Amino acid sequence: MKQGELRRALMVATLLCLFLFFYLYWQQSSRPLQTLVLTYKHVYSSNEKNRPPQWTWLCVNQRCERHHVTENVKIVSLNTCSMLCGSTQLWPQPTGPVTLGSKAIAFNPQSFQFETNVNGAVRTLLSEAFSAFNESVQSLMRNDDFVNQKTDFLKFIVRATIKDSDVVRLKLSTDESYSLILKYRNGQSIANITARTFFGVRHGLETLSQLIWWDNYHGKNGALKVLKGATVEDAPIFSYRGLMVDTARNFMSVESLKRVLVGMAASKLNVFHWHLSDSQSFPMILPNVPQLAKTGSYSPQETYSSEEVKALVEFARIRGIRVVLEVDVPAHAGNGWAWGPQEGLGELAVCINERPWSLYCGEPPCGQLNPENPNVYDILQKIYRDLIELSGEKEIFHLGGDEVSLECWAQHLQKSSTPNNYTDLHDLWGEFTVKALMRLQQANGGERIPHVILWSSKLTKRPYLSKFLDKNQVTVQSWGASQWADTPDLIADGYKVLVSHVDAWYLDCGFGRWRETGDAACDPYRPWQTIYNHRPWQQLRLDKKKIVGGEACLWTEQVSEWNLDSRLWPRAAALAERLWTDPQLDTTTYIILEDVYTRLTTHRERLISRGLKPEAMWPSYCTQNPGMCL
Ligand SMILES: *[C@@H]1O[C@H](CO)[C@@H](O)[C@H](O)[C@H]1NC(C)=O
Ligand SMILES: *[C@@H]1O[C@H](CO)[C@@H](O)[C@H](O)[C@H]1NC(C)=O
Ligand SMILES: *[C@@H]1O[C@H](CO)[C@@H](O)[C@H](O)[C@H]1NC(C)=O
Repeated sequence: MKQGELRRALMVATLLCLFLFFYLYWQQSSRPLQTLVLTYKHVYSSNEKNRPPQWTWLCVNQRCERHHVTENVKIVSLNTCSMLCGSTQLWPQPTGPVTLGSKAIAFNPQSFQFETNVNGAVRTLLSEAFSAFNESVQSLMRNDDFVNQKTDFLKFIVRATIKDSDVVRLKLSTDESYSLILKYRNGQSIANITARTFFGVRHGLETLSQLIWWDNYHGKNGALKVLKGATVEDAPIFSYRGLMVDTARNFMSVESLKRVLVGMAASKLNVFHWHLSDSQSFPMILPNVPQLAKTGSYSPQETYSSEEVKALVEFARIRGIRVVLEVDVPAHAGNGWAWGPQEGLGELAVCINERPWSLYCGEPPCGQLNPENPNVYDILQKIYRDLIELSGEKEIFHLGGDEVSLECWAQHLQKSSTPNNYTDLHDLWGEFTVKALMRLQQANGGERIPHVILWSSKLTKRPYLSKFLDKNQVTVQSWGASQWADTPDLIADGYKVLVSHVDAWYLDCGFGRWRETGDAACDPYRPWQTIYNHRPWQQLRLDKKKIVGGEACLWTEQVSEWNLDSRLWPRAAALAERLWTDPQLDTTTYIILEDVYTRLTTHRERLISRGLKPEAMWPSYCTQNPGMCL
């Protein structure tokens, strides 16, 4: 080939490529492919706007019926129909009287005006809560063009009245009740939220946000709508409504934990129990004991700094949630604890990564603190000081105490040169716990923490329980099966209980085994109905006054930040209604009413609009055809 020909051939090839490029470019621009790929927003975008609606919903006998759109028929979106068709779409269902108007108006979200009667620290907190509320409402919008169009009214005043303006930290005794009055008058909407504390107002704002929805059938671009009138009186049944997430088996990014808190706030859950370390890893950089994360995290990236933890605690507080940090001891502690000998502190933990693991722990890798090394208690005190400082939490402290292996200690004591007199190693465990409790008090400036939580175990059973643990201080997180005698025994012995029964409220179960040997830890999967229908105080006739509340647990052997949302939601919301509303349960049929299905479906979509990725509850057909799948 001559040089001139080559040049011509290349030129032709280039032109062909250019032509192909433009051809493909114009082809694809007929669909919004490019924007989808390039501008990922955490809210799902809708492509409804250019397509005529196919369905309309009619409210018939308090149920929305789906019909084909035909000429001359007024089209009503499913959202608008369900909001105006008999039931509330609130989750959790309020415990007091509720009246809802049957009319809606569109409004412009730029029009919010917040007012309050309080000043100082609580006002700052409130304005943050207002912003979070505003954000939740903004996230409902599926079409940004909407804000530029004229809507029915101009002003939307949200007025918060707080009686105790000095309450800025959530306690078990904090009054979380609120009342909400929503009215439309002289071209403006007024929402009056009245509560004893900030935490009540926070829940009132949440409820108000649930009376607002996106109507994709309104006008050309869709619109935000709110009920014209409503009154809600509400207060929770239980004061501890918790969710535990483990960040040690797999690391969870700060962003993913924020999503946990956003989902909790939407569902009025109020305690985030952060199981931050375990024998696999220690991801939190503690200011006074940085060695733990330095030698125990999966990587320098997979850690939490003090600033991040404090920011999350504040993010939570704004949303009515307290954060309980747990460093589980003496068991479930191995990686992160091996630096003692190098620093001349002796062995801080024993059985670390010991094999065969099944002799010394419940799952690999093993590890348990060395109860005979006095340095261990000094370090615990430093850890406790950091945890109190980071969380600001002085009312509740979680001491751990899960799944201690006496075999591990027995083997260690055998090798030890110092003689010991233990005929029953439970005594060693009990003494360890008593010493840890003393160190906790010292870490708290000498003041006793009023509620110390321990996982249920052999130590929280008779006869050890009353020998080592003060019933006026210790609350037991009862995680054994609900048929076990644990919970009734604890209550009979005068202890307070936090319910986390494994057969109902463990969210990690049902995904098969992750090891070659042994069975899956706790199959089968607990569907949301199981979680919702668990009401042990009724089923076991327990004294409700002794139950501080409940907590769902998510252990993360098979969960990372990428599937965290779907493991938690919407199931944790089912727990939220059990603990907030505690609806009656028919223990002969266990039937869940249609209204619960409909409201939870709405709530699940609410969580999606706030950036979460919950699991599907059923086929979309069932959402579009209420009652047809039951
Ligand atoms: C609510 O959020 C929108 C959008 O971010 C903002 O324009 C508006 O000023 C906010 N309203 C208030 C009262 O903060
Ligand atoms: C809202 O509350 C304010 C002050 O608490 C009161 O003056 C006003 O009348 C209330 N408005 C409605 C609509 O209830
Ligand atoms: C064992 O018991 C003896 C006699 O009661 C006591 O003197 C000794 O200090 C005990 N040893 C340990 C390690 O507790």
